[in-house]
Amino acid sequence: MFEFTMVIKKQIRSLMCRGRKKKIASLVIILIFLINAMFYVSLELYNTIKNRNKDPWYKSLRYEKDYVDKMGMRVIVGHYVGGNSGGNLSQEMINTNHYAPIDGAGEGGRPVQLLQREIISARDLYSLHSYNIVVSDRISINRSLPDMRSESCRRVEYDLENLPTASVIIVFHNEAWSTLMRTVMSVLLRSPTVLLKEIILVDDASDRKYLGKELEDAIENLNNVKILRSHNRTGLVGARLMGARIAVGDVLLFLDAHCEVTQGWIEPLLERAGSDDVFICPHIDLLSDDTLAYTKSIDAHWGAFSWRLHFRWLMPSNEVMINKSKNPSKPYPTPAMAGGLFAVRKSLFWRLGGYDEGMVIWGAENLELSWRAWQCGARVEITPCSRVGHIFRRHSPYKYPGGVAKVLNSNLARAASVWMDEWADFFFKFNPSVAAIRDSQSVGDRIEIRKNLHCKNFKWYLENVWPQHFFPTDERWFGRIRNDKGGCIGVTAGTPGLGGPASSISCGSDLDLDRLLVYTVEGKVMADEGLCLEQGNGRAVWKTCTENIKQIWQQKGPRLKTLDGLCLTLVNGDSEDGIGDPLTAKRCLNDNRQIWHFERVPWR
Ligand SMILES: *[C@@H]1O[C@H](CO)[C@@H](O)[C@H](O)[C@H]1NC(C)=O
Ligand SMILES: *[C@@H]1O[C@H](CO)[C@@H](O)[C@H](O)[C@H]1NC(C)=O
Ligand SMILES: *[C@@H]1O[C@H](CO)[C@@H](O)[C@H](O)[C@H]1NC(C)=O
Ligand SMILES: *[C@@H]1O[C@H](CO)[C@@H](O)[C@H](O)[C@H]1NC(C)=O
Repeated sequence: MFEFTMVIKKQIRSLMCRGRKKKIASLVIILIFLINAMFYVSLELYNTIKNRNKDPWYKSLRYEKDYVDKMGMRVIVGHYVGGNSGGNLSQEMINTNHYAPIDGAGEGGRPVQLLQREIISARDLYSLHSYNIVVSDRISINRSLPDMRSESCRRVEYDLENLPTASVIIVFHNEAWSTLMRTVMSVLLRSPTVLLKEIILVDDASDRKYLGKELEDAIENLNNVKILRSHNRTGLVGARLMGARIAVGDVLLFLDAHCEVTQGWIEPLLERAGSDDVFICPHIDLLSDDTLAYTKSIDAHWGAFSWRLHFRWLMPSNEVMINKSKNPSKPYPTPAMAGGLFAVRKSLFWRLGGYDEGMVIWGAENLELSWRAWQCGARVEITPCSRVGHIFRRHSPYKYPGGVAKVLNSNLARAASVWMDEWADFFFKFNPSVAAIRDSQSVGDRIEIRKNLHCKNFKWYLENVWPQHFFPTDERWFGRIRNDKGGCIGVTAGTPGLGGPASSISCGSDLDLDRLLVYTVEGKVMADEGLCLEQGNGRAVWKTCTENIKQIWQQKGPRLKTLDGLCLTLVNGDSEDGIGDPLTAKRCLNDNRQIWHFERVPWR
């Protein structure tokens, strides 16, 4: 019996020993597996982070925050004038041309990197133009750029003899010499001579010495480059009109003074502009304000504007995207143009009333022109085959006489009161500082133009040119949606780029545009900047408005229901008053966190 138990014990012990070995073995296997898994996970994580960084084009830019506005894309600002006072810089520094090209610098559109000590002086000089002038001065004005066109664009053949000719008009005010000359040279180097009638430089009262005789000497030897000078500061509109009045080409082709055109840029513009019913814009790529590297911008974008009439790049409508994929080299419509770069047949430009000469300095003239074009029987389009690099600046470097707000506001007031009808009332109602100067604008002659051309109204424009717009209409509900517990549906201040998680916000007053919403007939909850409330994975989010059915919230009594029957719920958070708590869609319950009060606010 004893022996027997001993044997069993031994056997058990050896079994246990064997078990231990096995355990160790399996532990080792598990450990190896875990280590592998960790490797894999971290590799994945690394890749995700890398890809995420690589994904949208603007992520690769150094000053990401400044390039990305609320909609995730950069707005063009200050697209006309260079030069501020220069702060503490010496007159000698400000007035001298420091162009000194270094062999190979920036060739092929590559970035130019400075040494640490050079960066310091470049930073001091940055304020002069709001781009890196030290870098610009090192890059040859004749630098090469890659052919940026897509395959399908390269295949398009043009009958040069039968294209209309162009007058390229470049307006500048205290621009840097190297940047301006690089713009001119890129046009000369990359435009067939039969198409380029002339380049007209219009100097809007620059006071930099190097833009005087030195510039004249530089262009003297170039074919067909002229210079006009305005001795009084007239602004973008006045200066462009000066150029347009003397232009002899069939097509007016306006460019900013800090661009570089690429291979094949002019043919698609001229071909389309020849049809006499269209304002045609190139596809605008990015020249870094820091390194002057040439970067492609995203393929599909079009121009529009926010409730406050700030120009925005947005995703084109589905229909346009489908057309684009079928026909990638074809021009496509855009509700608005950025304004800096476009071509138009001269006859059409004048027939539609040129520019509004009452607009001072810069701003809103692009929206005015876009609305006028569409409403008065023409179109605004972008051709993906013409690619032009443009320095996008983080802030406007120049002084607005009378202050930015006053200049911009008076231009906006003019554009809105002539073209926007009921939506002008909407704009003025929520922008009292603009409304205050509305009456001091005399726009009689512009209204006369609208009448004489039998232009369509703004309602037609919104419904036909930009049906995806996020403005209120008579059919759309407008106001605040307040939770029974407190707090309103709204976009949290500082929500990044293309949207973010949705929380309740404080409700604000009837004039708080940032806290008001459009609720559409089909059930979309829209905020300014084209953001729609969408049920995400777990949490509701603000996302660019799309056809996604997760953006539909049907009003059922006091509840807002998703198409699969869940109720919009203010999640029980940390707050006392319901403000800042997350929003999500949950099973419908008898819960006042699912009760929403619609408080209508008249939109005009
Ligand atoms: C100009 O120089 C003064 C004195 O050296 C300094 O106080 C001021 O901050 C400088 N201004 C700028 C814009 O650099
Ligand atoms: C740029 O090209 C023009 C015309 O080909 C030439 O006359 C000029 O010398 C070149 N300038 C530089 C700095 O390379
Ligand atoms: C230009 O400005 C001066 C003074 O600043 C003024 O006397 C003159 O009338 C202006 N000329 C034009 C054409 O506006
Ligand atoms: C898309 O293409 C079709 C067919 O060419 C055209 O009729 C339609 O107007 C296009 N849509 C837009 C928005 O350009």
